[in-house]
Amino acid sequence: MRVLFLVAFCFIRTVSMSPLRYDSIYSFGDSLSDTGNLLLSGALGFPVIGKLPYGETFFKHPTGRCSNGRLMIDFIAEAYGLPFVPPYLALAKGGKPQHGVNFAVAGATALDAKFYFDKGIGSILTTNDSLSVQLGWFKQLKSTFCNTKQDCENYFKRSLFLMGEIGGNDYPFILGGSIKQLQARVPLVIEAIVAATSVLIEEGAVELVVPGNLPFGCSAAYLTLLQSPNKADYDQDGCLKPYNAFYKYHNAQLKLALEKLRLKYPHARIIYADYYGAAKRFFHAPLHYGFSNGALSACCGGGGPYNFNNSAWCGSPGSKLCSSPSTFANWDGLHLTEAAYRHIAMGLINGPFTSPPLNSTSI
Ligand SMILES: *[C@@H]1O[C@H](CO)[C@@H](O)[C@H](O)[C@H]1NC(C)=O
Ligand SMILES: *[C@@H]1O[C@H](CO)[C@@H](O)[C@H](O)[C@H]1NC(C)=O
Ligand SMILES: *[C@@H]1O[C@H](CO)[C@@H](O)[C@H](O)[C@H]1NC(C)=O
Repeated sequence: MRVLFLVAFCFIRTVSMSPLRYDSIYSFGDSLSDTGNLLLSGALGFPVIGKLPYGETFFKHPTGRCSNGRLMIDFIAEAYGLPFVPPYLALAKGGKPQHGVNFAVAGATALDAKFYFDKGIGSILTTNDSLSVQLGWFKQLKSTFCNTKQDCENYFKRSLFLMGEIGGNDYPFILGGSIKQLQARVPLVIEAIVAATSVLIEEGAVELVVPGNLPFGCSAAYLTLLQSPNKADYDQDGCLKPYNAFYKYHNAQLKLALEKLRLKYPHARIIYADYYGAAKRFFHAPLHYGFSNGALSACCGGGGPYNFNNSAWCGSPGSKLCSSPSTFANWDGLHLTEAAYRHIAMGLINGPFTSPPLNSTSI
């Protein structure tokens, strides 16, 4: 009887593999995955995230997430039967998180803040908590779990590491950066992402997802601030081609760099996540995804053709909120709605937008 029960239990574990696949998530990145760190650090550079309507749809209060509700990391946690990943800065001193920690900070850059201060453009930063600062937090916390690499690999073998998205804030087009000028920064950003990924592997991570960037040329902020008089600059979905080409370039470079990293660390599962492809689907066919108001205009913003005004951000006086956020893909001009993040997350978990697939066990 007892043996039978055990056999049945093992069988269930095997067939319903996906919810039991990971028992914790460690995340690094920026506003696409921050679940509260920027807000907990004061959010001086982006105070609106501490106010409604941020968070209105799911949490019913602002959590520091740059959306009306859940982010991709929240849907990934749900898919694996895990609680939402707590922001690092909310951990009690000496607290031991059971199911992982989120080190992502909205506004964070892949390159160190020093890079920007040395160039005399430190004022463009929302936060100094760049990727290397986040890695430092991780190393400090990790030393309370395990020490040797072997020890840590054992500790982290059922942990999913999300390395980003990070790098989007290193390309500040809406603050005046030109494509030509920022193209030169791509190799540095890729190098920083790859170096951070290597550090995690050296520290014991074996399951890692490294995402590319979204098609920001389809965002209300870009469409408003970087509009072009030239019709040929827009694709069939109404997105700005030159900026999307830039993000495709970044993504292609990242994929190439990850191929090399896989050769260096054959024991690790290094998964590329195609945020661009997973999101472009709903810019291409918004109605199919329930975005009856289209995918380009922001739900919450300061008016104009795309409901975006850089002087009247979502949450500030003069901004307007849509009545049905799930019919919009864009939340505040730059960030997406919970509905859009859900579609992207499902495209990663069950769809073809991770390689190797997140849901397979093969390397
Ligand atoms: C970020 O770093 C710069 C340069 O070191 C410093 O002047 C500034 O106060 C820092 N900002 C925050 C919010 O810590
Ligand atoms: C943008 O918002 C500011 C502040 O509310 C307002 O003064 C300005 O007229 C708005 N611009 C447009 C184009 O609507
Ligand atoms: C895993 O993803 C593939 C597509 O990459 C999909 O065809 C398959 O149904 C998924 N399997 C599970 C168990 O979700």
